[in-house]
Amino acid sequence: MSAQTPDSNGAGAPTPTDSDALPKRAGMNTLSVHGGDDRPRAHQAIPMPIIQTATYAFADTADLINFMQHKSWGDGIIGREEYGRYGNPTVQAVESKVAALEGAEDAVMFSSGMAAITSLLLASLPSGAHIIMTGDCYRRTRQFCLTFLKRLGIETTIVETGDYAALEAAVQPKRTRFIMSESPTNPYLRCVDLARIAEIAKRHRVQTIIDSTFGTPINQLPLQYGIDYVTHSATKYLGGHHDLLAGVVAARKDRIAALRDARGVLGGIVDPQNAYLLERGLKTLGLRVAQQNSSAMQIAQFLEGHPKIERVWYPGLPSHPDHAVAKKQMSGFGGVVSFTVRGTLEETSRFIDAMEIPYIAPSLGGVDSLIEQPALMSFFERTPEERLEVGITGNLVRFAIGVEDTDDLIADLDQALRVLP
Ligand SMILES: Cc1ncc(COP(=O)(O)O)c(C=O)c1O
Repeated sequence: MSAQTPDSNGAGAPTPTDSDALPKRAGMNTLSVHGGDDRPRAHQAIPMPIIQTATYAFADTADLINFMQHKSWGDGIIGREEYGRYGNPTVQAVESKVAALEGAEDAVMFSSGMAAITSLLLASLPSGAHIIMTGDCYRRTRQFCLTFLKRLGIETTIVETGDYAALEAAVQPKRTRFIMSESPTNPYLRCVDLARIAEIAKRHRVQTIIDSTFGTPINQLPLQYGIDYVTHSATKYLGGHHDLLAGVVAARKDRIAALRDARGVLGGIVDPQNAYLLERGLKTLGLRVAQQNSSAMQIAQFLEGHPKIERVWYPGLPSHPDHAVAKKQMSGFGGVVSFTVRGTLEETSRFIDAMEIPYIAPSLGGVDSLIEQPALMSFFERTPEERLEVGITGNLVRFAIGVEDTDDLIADLDQALRVLP
């Protein structure tokens, strides 16, 4: 079932103003279960089986030559595999499903979110190029750009998330290749105006990348706002069970074909077992994210009204700086709520230790709730002063909500907050 099927229930992210230009889409739950599927599958299997295969045989030399000729013509109608680093049927099934969910022509899977981002940048940027990145990006993405790409002579300008004048001013004619951002960002859940970024970029003939990991295709569809590439750490919501690492890039067919070729060189393909787990996880993406959106909204409201809470960041709250942008382009506001408690770093740790349902762990997006104090997790090695420079205070908490009952999560927060003075 492709993304072009008639709209069945109106679910999914809100459409941008130019809705006539959009393909009609099935509902997001239908796409989560059936999107991109081939019917019938081999052996009439319903789930895509794991094809645990590294190499594929040719019937005879004529078969080999025929394959090689099609491959060298780049016509894409090969219909078989050659070698596991270039592709795999289980991996391809997930690629089709993600493409259907994102409303993309195609998608390509990688072994992690970082492999997706680094492969896309390495494959696309010539030495001497320039990219623009918004400030709140995942620290490893930032590290890759500021250190690894720098060694290749590629310069990165970081602009504050939400400062569109600075973003436009940072464009260097003929040199800037990409504007990249996350939306929502981590941990403050800043949302960039997708249509505005796409418009600025197009005016300057620059391409755009949105890491939509925190958004998910259930809540927002960046390609429909004119963004060129969408990336995900599929380790998070797409997989949804804290049991796999994977990454994906979705975009126009010719761009994905070039990136798939580059993946064959860079070697970052996801393995078939993880692709199977991801396909399985994706079937409940719509259900999981709907529950997480609803819980997160109620939890954010509960926290905002609680006397032991200093401040709450959740794009669904009118108090969030990007609430208006989020409302315009998202149908749900995601499953992560960040907040500061009234207390020191040590008191905040005591509150976290008193929580009974969530695990203390990095990551987000799975069925199990996770809680963390960014000062002691991602920013542990920094001094308090260095943390403050990037806006990380000791009393900041990131709560990545799972699919447990909302009332139980609120009751757990309520009892744990009592340990604070
Ligand atoms: C927004 C975002 N992008 C990319 C990544 C990297 O993904 P992975 O851990 O799958 O490599 C992460 C990981 O935390 C992330 O939060």
